[in-house]
Amino acid sequence: MNILLTGGAGFIGSHTIIELDKAGHDVVVVDNLCNSNPEALRRVAKIIGKEVPFVEADVRDRAAMEQIFTDNKIDAVIHFAGLKAVGESVSKPLEYYENNMNATFVLLDVMRKHGCKNLIFSSSATVYGDPAVIPITEDCPKGHCTNPYGQTKSMLEEVLIDVQKADNEWNIVLLRYFNPIGAHPSGTMGENPNGIPNNLMPYITQTAVGIREELGVFGNDYDTHDGTGVRDYIHVCDLAAGHVAALKAIDRKCGLAIYNLGTGHGYSVLDVVNAFMKVNGVNVPYVIKPRRPGDIATCYCDPAKAKAELGWEAQYGIEEMCRDSWNWQKNNPKGY
Ligand code: NAD
Ligand code: UFG
Repeated sequence: MNILLTGGAGFIGSHTIIELDKAGHDVVVVDNLCNSNPEALRRVAKIIGKEVPFVEADVRDRAAMEQIFTDNKIDAVIHFAGLKAVGESVSKPLEYYENNMNATFVLLDVMRKHGCKNLIFSSSATVYGDPAVIPITEDCPKGHCTNPYGQTKSMLEEVLIDVQKADNEWNIVLLRYFNPIGAHPSGTMGENPNGIPNNLMPYITQTAVGIREELGVFGNDYDTHDGTGVRDYIHVCDLAAGHVAALKAIDRKCGLAIYNLGTGHGYSVLDVVNAFMKVNGVNVPYVIKPRRPGDIATCYCDPAKAKAELGWEAQYGIEEMCRDSWNWQKNNPKGY
């Protein structure tokens, strides 16, 4: 298939290009580079041995999007493009709602106009809020999102459900990602956050490499085995492969389908820090800090549905995630 990746220069998108290429798909990337670097696409090109067709444009730019669909016969779109920093979304709600919602509205309208009605959407475990059941299955009710970023994911899921309900020619797959970490095993590609990282693994790797003095562990009084927050970390290459698997659902004309993409295993903050130090033989100094507002104690999924229906399951464990994250950071201490 010929797949358009919006936000394809970003962390998950760039790794997904490699998996799509492996599976024999062709790709076109559109990205405005607001949170990514074109070097990522050059690194992808080195790995797959060919250039990645790339249009630098904003998905909200209707004329640019029209042009992409006129120039290319697109069979399906994977919609990664969006702003994703939880904390920033609290201080800049309008920017987050405007970008994430409008980009999706323009994309859907242009797709419809060009008769392309196959979409995979990057959703998030955040839509479950403080989950009603653990492990989280797809039929677990959605919960209250404590930040505008999460609200955009939850609202866009509703928009997409309504669009598919109104016109059953659409095939829409909502992929609810758990916590992507790790990096391409080559050590040439990985997560490249701007400024101070919000997420655990980039903070750990930047501390290990000496950019940050120490990691703050946000709370050790949660109701978990060691008091620190538990999450379902998934290797970004496994997550990328999940998108290739999701194309099977599109191929089968799934209508609307929802899948959790996680490993089904929960690791605490201290489990991750200890695994990282052990696997890589480096020290990560840390201090216990107060809880971070909006955080929940435990979040991990039941990934059985994706296995049963898509034949997908995560291959990498926490050791490989820690190894590859470190390999990327130490080879590229300043990112791309
Ligand atoms: P990322 O920021 O690395 O990638 C997103 C890309 O979208 C960036 O390259 C950015 O430049 C681009 N972009 C943003 N707005 C755009 C616009 N209007 N037009 C064109 N390009 C635009 O983030 P990521 O970690 O690769 O995440 C990809 C998707 O997955 C996002 O939608 C994110 O919300 C979602 N997601 C990420 C996580 C995570 O922890 N990384 C978890 C759950 C869901
Ligand atoms: N944590 C720390 N110190 C840090 C950063 C994080 O202790 O410096 C802890 C958090 O308190 C939490 C765990 O590490 O217990 C994971 O935190 P992250 O910020 O890495 O990830 P979250 O689970 O909070 O959120 C991430 C993404 C969201 C997404 C969600 C579910 O940031 O966008 O996973 O997919 F919605």
